[in-house]
Amino acid sequence: MKILVTGGLGYIGSHVMVLLLERNVEVLCIDNLDNSRLEVLDGIKKITERKPLFKNLDLKNKSETDVFFKEHSNIQGIIHFAAHKAVNESSKKPLLYYNNNITGLLNILDFSIKKDIPFIYSSSCTVYGDAKSFPINEDALTSNPKSPYGNTKLMGEQILKDCFNAYCKFKTIILRYFNPIGAHPSGNIGEFPLGTPQNLIPYLTQTVIGKHPFLKIYGSDYETEDGTCVRDYIHIMDLAEAHIKSINYLISAKNKKMYEIFNVGTGKGSSVLDVINAFEKVTGENVPHKFVGPREGDVPIAFADVKKINSKMGWKAKFNLEDGLRSAWNWEKEIAKKS
Ligand code: WQD
Repeated sequence: MKILVTGGLGYIGSHVMVLLLERNVEVLCIDNLDNSRLEVLDGIKKITERKPLFKNLDLKNKSETDVFFKEHSNIQGIIHFAAHKAVNESSKKPLLYYNNNITGLLNILDFSIKKDIPFIYSSSCTVYGDAKSFPINEDALTSNPKSPYGNTKLMGEQILKDCFNAYCKFKTIILRYFNPIGAHPSGNIGEFPLGTPQNLIPYLTQTVIGKHPFLKIYGSDYETEDGTCVRDYIHIMDLAEAHIKSINYLISAKNKKMYEIFNVGTGKGSSVLDVINAFEKVTGENVPHKFVGPREGDVPIAFADVKKINSKMGWKAKFNLEDGLRSAWNWEKEIAKKS
């Protein structure tokens, strides 16, 4: 079986490629290195003793994309990660996000539809915006994603729905990720932010290793148990496994049409203070932190109802918050050894 992974050198893509290679799948990887590093391939080789076929390609470049697909037409599945994903950056650079995330999707979809290739789309819990009931299930309103990034994810889902309605053999699974954290247990790959990370966990581990004087906690009087925001932090290895289940689910659907949306999370919410306390407990390290004002675009609470993916694909998170934090800290120490 040959699977194309776009954005495969990114955080989630690289962990999914490891699982695919370990299952002797032939993997093609496209990445434009906008927000990733070529050295990730070395980490993947260390883990699997194999490398995907890699092509430095920007999916926004239609002619180059078409040339690539002329050379690689025999593909049995596409997992599409390639996109910009920083929520607050998207509010400052909306056109960059619409152009990159939507144009790239349209160009890869053009190929997927021409060749009837099953398609997995990387979406996000951010499409739910400010949800009102919890845990959030897939039928919840998606009326206001609260950022251009979230809008591009929701638009992508709508584009796929229209393709499902129009093309008789179109098959897609949409995975709405909650908050991916942690790293591969080997310490060879992990979240490798270019520049200062926006996300909580990499900023926290960088603070503890000494790159920042303290962690800013955005907001302390939300309507949550301790006043800080609640999220569903899912171990990257669990998230990667959900993609393997999804590929198998799609391919086993044979010639049936398919358009299905699944949340991917642990089903459990943890506040920012819960994260800090859990991190200090599992590592014995202190997390210097200060409370500051709320961050634009943040929602108070977001955690997943995961009954659907569990019942339809038999997938369930195996790791908990502490496992994710332990692996994130291990990875941060590995990065420090390299620098
Ligand atoms: C988590 C919590 C912050 C940094 C985003 C995307 C989502 C997905 C995951 C792509 C929030 C708080 C953070 C810091 C803090 N990405 N925080 N200090 O915003 O929930 O979700 O990343 O798919 O689509 O929206 O993740 O890690 O930025 O924030 O207090 O230095 O930590 O306020 O409550 P977020 P995050």
